[in-house]
Amino acid sequence: MELKGRNVLVTGAAGFIGSHLADRLLAEGARVTGIDNLSEGSLENLKKSLQETNFKFHKGDIRDREFLHTIVDKIDIIFHLAAFTSVRRSISNPLECNEINVTGTLNLLELARKYDVNKFIYSSSAAVYGNTPQLPIDEDVQPKPLSPYGISKLTAEQYVLIYNELYDIETTALRYFNVYGPRQKLSEYSGVITIFLERLKNHQDLVIYGDGNQTRDFIYITDVVNANLKATKTKSQGNIFNIATGDRISIRELAEIIVKQSGKSNTKIIHDPPKLGDIIHSYANIEKSRQKLDFSAQISINEGLRKVIQWYMKN
Ligand SMILES: NC(=O)c1ccc[n+]([C@@H]2O[C@H](COP(=O)([O-])OP(=O)(O)OC[C@H]3O[C@@H](n4cnc5c(N)ncnc54)[C@H](O)[C@@H]3O)[C@@H](O)[C@H]2O)c1
Repeated sequence: MELKGRNVLVTGAAGFIGSHLADRLLAEGARVTGIDNLSEGSLENLKKSLQETNFKFHKGDIRDREFLHTIVDKIDIIFHLAAFTSVRRSISNPLECNEINVTGTLNLLELARKYDVNKFIYSSSAAVYGNTPQLPIDEDVQPKPLSPYGISKLTAEQYVLIYNELYDIETTALRYFNVYGPRQKLSEYSGVITIFLERLKNHQDLVIYGDGNQTRDFIYITDVVNANLKATKTKSQGNIFNIATGDRISIRELAEIIVKQSGKSNTKIIHDPPKLGDIIHSYANIEKSRQKLDFSAQISINEGLRKVIQWYMKN
């Protein structure tokens, strides 16, 4: 679907991924409505988008159905990213996680149904897989989430897909692996790259839990945005796709590249005991997204790290 002149809704627009997606959609000529309750996101992330006449922002909550109906007029595509994103906090607060991630998604699907939205693109997560022994992980692996967060993303995915079957809305679920890039917020739940960069900036050692041989599939933010755009253009409906590079890197190697690229060669890499329940290896089989979504990541880990280190040191 051509994006120029289209009305699109981005939920979670003030967040890490949502704000990059909003910037890109505006650059493609779309008319973008962004919503976010600003619980985690920030208007600072939308500094660029907010200057555009094609951008409208509404502060509000996806649990609030009345609010959602006031902001929608004519919408062609919904990109649904707003979520309760903390795995650990979902363990202490499963109800809130479920209300936001499951009921909130259902509220948006109902909105899509009522207003004849053509496409609904859902940001899901590799957390649905849990600690699967099958590597690389393909989309047909039996999901076995390890947290209320993972369960909520999986349940929401099921709703997203059933809306394709029952109501003929073109829905797609994108399972992101570990996303990194500028604007990712530092918190106790941040991804390891953001945590390493923050420590580096503060002249602290980089701490690895365990031996550092655990591996992950890190994907740069612009590739994740590209995957969302591909989902509007290809026949992706009713499908789930892994959004990842298909490559893996160990945490030890990652720490070494970060130290080397930042030029802070006196930073030490130290080891703490492994974290209980930590997933050992995770990387994606990307054949399905390559074939059906026509998507493959373009940014290598070295290039992505270079970009994010540069941004981090400036901001
Ligand atoms: N970052 C990753 O590595 C990663 C990996 C897998 C999946 N995802 C998924 O991608 C999506 C975006 O994640 P992100 O990394 O940009 O996180 P983020 O926390 O930066 O963005 C989420 C945004 O949603 C907003 N939000 C939360 N609850 C809301 C509510 N009830 N109503 C309205 N807005 C609300 C937050 O304020 C925030 O701005 C999420 O759905 C997440 O599950 C992210």
